[in-house]
Amino acid sequence: MSPILKSQARLRVPMPHSKAKKPVPSADVRKKLEAAATKVMKNAHAPYSNFHVGAAILLTNGKMFTGCNVENASYGMTNCAERTAIFTAVAELGPAIEIQAVAVTNDHGVACSPCGACRQVIYEFGPDATVFFQGANGPKQAHITELLPEGFRLK
Ligand code: THU
Repeated sequence: MSPILKSQARLRVPMPHSKAKKPVPSADVRKKLEAAATKVMKNAHAPYSNFHVGAAILLTNGKMFTGCNVENASYGMTNCAERTAIFTAVAELGPAIEIQAVAVTNDHGVACSPCGACRQVIYEFGPDATVFFQGANGPKQAHITELLPEGFRLK
């Protein structure tokens, strides 16, 4: 390593174009979000799948919002819990919100990561968000860009 790089490493000088990620939310934050998600899950309208889902999002301003899945007899009109939570936050605070973390829970205790549509919506408002969910082998957490590489942006 060159002497300059060595001194930068020692001083922890940020590289000009480094995409430093914010710290991952703590286990306590995860617990709090999961508790809120599980509580709102009880409001789900899921008579077709009988699969009740809850989601909670934490914004970078510290506020939390929750949502449940809302199904429809015309199945395609169904809104997932994650999108319900995000749209509620936007309706309340406007589009400048930034999502720091998302947690999803379900009443079957089975693996359930956000669907593709929800990943794109999370990415819109939380390009640096951490997602907490139940994986096939237990609890998982992932950066939104791991779940949605090359997410779509219009500008
Ligand atoms: N669902 C969610 O609300 N979030 C997810 O992450 C996965 C799926 C809902 C949609 C539908 O009401 C039910 O689960 C079954 O697909």
